[in-house]
Amino acid sequence: MKVTVTKCDIASLESDLLALPFSSDGLKEDAAKRLAALGINQQVLNDFKADAGEVIVLYGESGKHSAQRIALLGLGEGKSVDDWRKAAVSFAARSVEMKLENVAVDCSCIEAHAVSTGQSVATLATAFVEGCYTGSYRFDSLKSGKLDKKKSDVKSKGIVELLFRVDSGAFEESEKGVAEGTVIGSCQKMAKDLVNLPGSHLQAVDIAKAAEESGEKYGYDVTVFHKKDIVDLAMGGLLAVNKGSHHPPAFIILDYKPKGKVTTVVALVGKGVTFDSGGISLKPSENMGEMKSDMSGAASVLGAVEAAARLGLPVHIIGLIPATDNMPGATAQQPGDVITTYSGITVEVGNTDAEGRLILADALTYGIEKYKPDVIIDIATLTGACIVALGYAVAGLFSNNDKLAEEIFQAGQQSGEKVWRMPLWDLYDEQIKSDVADVNNTGGRGAGTITAAKFLEKFIDGHKNWAHIDIAGPSFLPKSAGKVSGGTGFGVSLLVEVLKKLA
Ligand code: BES
Ligand code: ZN
Ligand code: ZN
Repeated sequence: MKVTVTKCDIASLESDLLALPFSSDGLKEDAAKRLAALGINQQVLNDFKADAGEVIVLYGESGKHSAQRIALLGLGEGKSVDDWRKAAVSFAARSVEMKLENVAVDCSCIEAHAVSTGQSVATLATAFVEGCYTGSYRFDSLKSGKLDKKKSDVKSKGIVELLFRVDSGAFEESEKGVAEGTVIGSCQKMAKDLVNLPGSHLQAVDIAKAAEESGEKYGYDVTVFHKKDIVDLAMGGLLAVNKGSHHPPAFIILDYKPKGKVTTVVALVGKGVTFDSGGISLKPSENMGEMKSDMSGAASVLGAVEAAARLGLPVHIIGLIPATDNMPGATAQQPGDVITTYSGITVEVGNTDAEGRLILADALTYGIEKYKPDVIIDIATLTGACIVALGYAVAGLFSNNDKLAEEIFQAGQQSGEKVWRMPLWDLYDEQIKSDVADVNNTGGRGAGTITAAKFLEKFIDGHKNWAHIDIAGPSFLPKSAGKVSGGTGFGVSLLVEVLKKLA
């Protein structure tokens, strides 16, 4: 999708569909005048309420505008960035449904909305473009006819060009915002594509390849440890989870260092389980296919590092991705096994389905030991219990640092990828005590999300600035939960916002 900011006058904007966004107040104030100028019958205002995301497509009087169709687009009260994002999602989704490739939006109102939302013009423009990427996303690369073609040869339907029209006063800020929205939107798309690929098409080495391609293209270093390196390093958590698989594990390191002097080093750790069968503690078969999304944390780390590199954020970022599938092969680890992690800490594997924490344990210890980051954040589809607690829209947040927790919470509010903090009180340690090893990887009934976080905390070697984000809910939407299903790319926009705050 090519997005162009233009000052061209509304009537001469050429497009298949031109959207006119209105907030509920704006609708009362100037809709009649704007519709009249385009030759649109005022009676439509009996039906259109400008609810956030509402779209009505209609035809104006030819000769009064160059667009083929006009869409009235609701911004709701227009008081938050979320309203802009929501409107853009609906507009793009409708455009794709109608197979319209060249669309436009008249954002003459953007400066007024910047005032009423307390946000900058650039932020609103970013949100709109991000929303257009979300609404127009389709995962169709595995449909026949597309399978064997090179990426560049596949002509997928969707929005080809979006014209973003603003008044002269908002032009520069809009260009800035559109550029950022384009980067974040396309990195979210990359993350969604990876999440949606099933185990038959995405193994640990494929995540490594995707990382290498991205690093090559956007100028950051990527190092991949293969099985032999992982054995030499004695990453016992990652090796234990990989034991039942035919596919080798990978440990992927992304290193983005901006030009000039930077002092802050941020490590991002993403769970990369390409398919989680549960291992010997096999999951129930219903919906097990959704566990192809168990590498969503890895996808959001890759998306966020690529976005940071493309935006040139002034912060040194290390991405760490332990990757494997979790399978119940004959050589698989067994419940009751005791393993030694990279840190030397021994773990009783109470349940082989609690595999994410085993691979993250190694990555957290390695990342801290090797890179001594100022901040370390892990992101993972870690527990079903987190979905029970917070549902499919919100991620769980844990941190041993109140300032970092507040920054991540605010980044969630800003990006629309919301997080809610939960406690790390020591009383939960009781649940993960083991009789035979240093710690157990399961905490029994109750507080499953918290005991998982308490487990991870044992592997940060006393680091004072750590956060854990559990994205089991918002990373992948099952068919029943809403209109769009599949990978969401949750975490890319959130982490970019966090990185901006930490820079
Ligand atoms: N990958 C799952 C968590 C998950 C569940 C993510 C549903 C997305 C949707 C994780 O590896 C897992 O299986 N966790 C277990 C932990 C339990 C065995 C202690 C869980 O949540 O049931
Ligand atoms: Zn599992
Ligand atoms: Zn898992």
